[in-house]
Amino acid sequence: MKRDLIIVLLTVSFMTPSLAQSGDVTRGQQNFRACAACHSLEPDRNMTGPSLAGLWGRKAGTLPSFDRYSDALKSSGILWNDQTLDQWLTDPERMVPDNAMPFEGIKNNGARADLLAFLKQATNPGAAPKQTGQAQMKGMGGMMGGGHDPNLKKIEPAKQVRAITYCHDTYRVTTADGKTRAFWERNLRFKTDSSKDGPEAGAPAIMPAGMMGDRASVIFASPDEIGRTIKTQC
Ligand code: HEC
Repeated sequence: MKRDLIIVLLTVSFMTPSLAQSGDVTRGQQNFRACAACHSLEPDRNMTGPSLAGLWGRKAGTLPSFDRYSDALKSSGILWNDQTLDQWLTDPERMVPDNAMPFEGIKNNGARADLLAFLKQATNPGAAPKQTGQAQMKGMGGMMGGGHDPNLKKIEPAKQVRAITYCHDTYRVTTADGKTRAFWERNLRFKTDSSKDGPEAGAPAIMPAGMMGDRASVIFASPDEIGRTIKTQC
């Protein structure tokens, strides 16, 4: 009886077939910080990289809502599973030369196994949103140029842009709290966000950028608003 049990246990442990199943999910969630600036785990929420929701069993380069895949990844013929993802995360460039993911890979086997264990759980279609690890990226989002920005339709008055003027080398941005701030023209960026988190049409938002407080981005609902909003005026 006891010997049978031992045999069963041994068989189970030798059968553990994949790295994803041997990793530590909690540590893997920490490791996901290396990805979260570019990848969301919410279905169809694409950033620099495609959403990773529903990744296992998906063909590489085929998420219909993501428009920026490289030809290299699209034509790779890879099917994402424990093995192929382990290979991809070890050295993306080696697996798919000329792919467009700016990431050098994770060489540590344990760190990769942990990350895969977390990802396998968090990208599962039934995964609860709080398991996705995106929430803890909120604070870092601005710094890392990605991450989870707040919904710009509900932004506070100090970030709602009412007017932008341009004179010589200076933009002046007036916000809904009545304040006007001046920016050197190379320190202000103009961006668009057409997603559900983006601003309302005609109501751009200003977001601080960089560490020193001298830079910011103004985010519009669409590119044609940019020229219409900025008035040359001295
Ligand atoms: C700086 C941004 C960036 C970082 C960091 C990054 N990725 Fe990516 N990732 C991308 C881009 C862009 C693509 C699309 C690549 C292409 O089309 O060649 C991509 C593609 C992928 C794909 C293929 C998805 C598909 O639909 O075929 C997977 C899987 C992936 N990344 C996982 C990760 C993981 C896991 C991490 C963290 C260890 C990570 N990435 C880090 C930008 C990034």
